[in-house]
Order: sequence, then C-alpha cells, then structure tokens
Amino acid sequence: MSLQFTFIEHAAETCTAACLVVGLFADGTLSPAAQRVDAAANGAIARLVASGDLSGKLGSTHTLFGLAGVHAARVLVVGLGEAAKFDAARYAKACGDAVRALRALPVDNAALYLSELEVLGKDSAWKLRAAILAADAQAYQYAATFKPRDKAKTPELATLALAAPKALDDSALTQAAAIARGVRFARELGNLPPNICTPAYLGEQARKLAAEHPGVHCEVLEEADLRRLGMGALLGVAQGSANAPRLIALEWKGGSADDKPYALVGKGVTFDSGGISIKPSAGMEEMKFDMCGAAGVLGAFLAAVELKLPLNLVCVVPAVENMPGSNAQRPSDVVTTMSGLTVEVLNTDAEGRLILCDALTYVQKYQPQVIIDVATLTGACVVALGKHASGLMTQDDTLADELLAAGNATLDRAWRLPLWEDYHSQLETGYADLANLGGKYAGAITAGCFLSRFTEGFRWAHLDIAGSAWDEGRKGSATGRPVPLLVQYLLDRAGN
Ligand code: BES
Ligand code: MN
Ligand code: ZN
Repeated sequence: MSLQFTFIEHAAETCTAACLVVGLFADGTLSPAAQRVDAAANGAIARLVASGDLSGKLGSTHTLFGLAGVHAARVLVVGLGEAAKFDAARYAKACGDAVRALRALPVDNAALYLSELEVLGKDSAWKLRAAILAADAQAYQYAATFKPRDKAKTPELATLALAAPKALDDSALTQAAAIARGVRFARELGNLPPNICTPAYLGEQARKLAAEHPGVHCEVLEEADLRRLGMGALLGVAQGSANAPRLIALEWKGGSADDKPYALVGKGVTFDSGGISIKPSAGMEEMKFDMCGAAGVLGAFLAAVELKLPLNLVCVVPAVENMPGSNAQRPSDVVTTMSGLTVEVLNTDAEGRLILCDALTYVQKYQPQVIIDVATLTGACVVALGKHASGLMTQDDTLADELLAAGNATLDRAWRLPLWEDYHSQLETGYADLANLGGKYAGAITAGCFLSRFTEGFRWAHLDIAGSAWDEGRKGSATGRPVPLLVQYLLDRAGN
C-alpha cells in the first residue's frame, strides 16, 4: 500500500497522531519537537537520555509508550548522530530509519517532526521532499508474487504527517509524491521476475500508462516493425530468445508544439543470461534487473506526466531478452545497425549497447534537444564506483553539470567518467565498423564510447546504473534510481 502524506497541524505535545517522531543528537541535544514533548512530560525524555536508555546514535530508534502529558500514545525517538555531521544524507537516512521503525509498530498514522531540523544548505521544501522520498522508499514492499495474505490484523502505516512551515505551499508535497510514485513504478517493474516481466509485459505497462494519462501517446513496435526499420543489432540480441522483442515509444507534449523534446532511452533487457557468451550461474538471477534502465525512464516519464511538466518528452525503451537459444547470435557475428554502421559481436553478453545503439538511432526521428540513456550496462562501472553512484558519461560539460546537480539535489548521485577520443581505438576490429567489446580496461567508458558513435550531432548523456539500480542479495530490491535524478533534471529544465 502506498503512503499518504499530509501536513502536521499541531505542536508535538498536543498532536493526536498514533506516533510522534522526534530526534535526538548523539550529545543528548533534543530536536525542537523532542524538547516540547520532554517539557510536557516533565523531563521524561531527558531522564532517559541521562540514564543512558535513550541513545542519539545515528540509525537508532526507541519507542516510548504512554508518556504522561503527551496526547500521542507513542513517541519514536530517532538517533541523529553527531550534530556537526548532520547533513542532507544523514537527514534522509534518519527519515527512512524512522519509517522502518514505524512499520514495526501497530500504527496506521504518524507525525514526523524531523523536517523541522536544520539541514545545512537546504530549505523547507527540500526537507519535505527528501522526507517523503525516504519515507516512501521504506514503506514500499514487494508483494506481487507471494500467496495473497490475509488482511493484516494489526494496522499498517498508511498516513504520514510532516512538519512544514505555514507559508510552504503544496508544490513540494505534490512533486515529492509524483517522484515517489515514479520510483515505486520503477522498483516494481525491476523486482518482478523475468517470466512475468517480459518485453511484451513492458509494452503492456507502457500502454496502460498511456491509457491512464490523457495526453500521453504510446507506440509499441513489434519484431516485424523493427526488421523494417533495419534494427539489426537489437534483433541480433533478441533472436536467441522465445520472447519476442518490443520497442516502446511514449510521448508527452506538455510544451509548445515546436519545442524540441527531451528524450529518455532505457535499456530493457528483461533477462540477461549473457547469450552464447553465457554468464556464470552464481548471481545470474540478478540479471532480471537488467531492465532497470527501462524501468527508470518509464518511472521518470510517469512522474513528469503526473506533474504535467510544461515540456515535451519522449521515452524510448528497447525491450529484449538475451538468451542462448538455438537461433542465438554467435561471437564473431556481424550485424548491421539501423544507423548503417556494422558491428562485430565479439561477446554476446555485451548486449546492452547493441539494443541501445538502435534505440538511440530511432529516437533521433523526434529531433530531441537532449538525449539521456540509462542502462545497467557494465560490471566495470560497479567496480569503478560501487553501488553508491551512477556513472555519467557525456561530451557535453553543461549537460554533465546539470545532471550531476540534479543527482546531488536528490541524493541520487552520479559521478562523471571521461569519454576521450583516446579510448575509441579499443573498439576497432578488422571485420566491421566497430566491435561491441572494448577489451580489458575501462569497460564502462568503452561502452559509453560505443554508444557515442550513435549520437553524433546530438546533446547526449549516458548513465550507467549497473551499481545503483538494485541492492544485492536474496532480499535485494530495485532502488528506483535514477528516477529522482531524472525528474529533478526535468523539473529544473521546466523552470521549477
Ligand atoms: N547487464 C550486464 C552488466 C552488469 C553486470 C550489470 C553485472 C550489473 C551487474 C551487461 O549486459 C554485461 O553483461 N556487461 C558485460 C560487458 C562485457 C562483456 C564487455 C560486463 O560488464 O561484464
Ligand atoms: Mn550482458
Ligand atoms: Zn545486460
């Protein structure tokens, strides 16, 4: 169930929410709401701090029940860590920790007072948005493929009220709710198993999105259409699978008719077995997440449409499954891309660039002013940046700065890698215009260089989200990144 967000209307001590959320710094300093609650409760919180029963350690949470003098039945005290180190990231973490703790309590509503805390360099609107995004990320729960459960006997958290200054209008709340919706959409698609989330399924989801949102135009191309368009690289990847490919194109015209659109392109490999260059079994299940680029651009598109952003936007998703079927392409096959350039497939596991190159050529028919592609493209990017940052590659310094700023503002950060001419020779081969493999070194960059050959003459950036798109492990979940970065970028362009 998704969380509803409202504004808090009362001072902490008279608020009647089922649970109040207040903060405590490591040195024992109480947040403003905690101070008021403490005063109303005759110093009960301060005594617990003094006795060592309450800690302000970052990430700690303690629930106090039935404090005399306080209207709410429960007070959740969240540790904020060292006051001097309390920054945007720690603030968002504290909000997320609070909601994780709330979900374990028998409450269906709570009032989060953490948004009244000072966060260096951030205004009230930012604090509200960050709290909502952190809260909703913790509230999301994947349920699609479990046996339907009996309705929970204990209440589930459904409403979260947030502290905000009276003067603040609704727009921060509206924006954050739309971004949260886009993030959830992306996470759910990412988490679905690949026997459900096939290329056809992605196509249906795009159609459904269009049907539910007036003004959205949707086209889903099928194999015969792709053949007619000459997408030899995309089709080469698809031919090893029984699940036929799709190419999804969504359009939103929130701007003037003659405004060139922003274009988002997302890698939609619904399962990446590696093909004939097959991957090792261990960890192969994580390759169901290889469509998280597609999920990310669809989620960002959804948020942009729900916000009715006054700009034109197109979203293109090449959707395929990479399998080693009897008709699968072979290492050394040469394919002809839609652009006319030929590619020698030296490794069938470097399939992302093969579907993206044709999608990047296709999207040019919309005459976009900017193209941003998003892809779980290389393990090398994870080696370089870990799970914390997405890899950003572009030759356009302005576009780089805008995207990096959007990532910093939303804590959905990216880090730039170079696309210098020096790396391009790694893609040379004796049998085609380029190879799909760049050799041992700089794998994230040579993949970016490959894509750059298909975007010449356009302002273009590539986001490698191989590390940031999901959390590892049995219970690892899609993160919904880079939806916040992309929507912030679009909000900034729309002049918000
Ligand atoms: N989808 C993978 C990239 C990937 C690997 C993402 C691990 C997240 C975790 C991609 O299609 C792939 O297989 N890339 C190869 C490229 C190589 C063959 C040049 C890789 O990174 O090993
Ligand atoms: Mn692969
Ligand atoms: Zn892949």
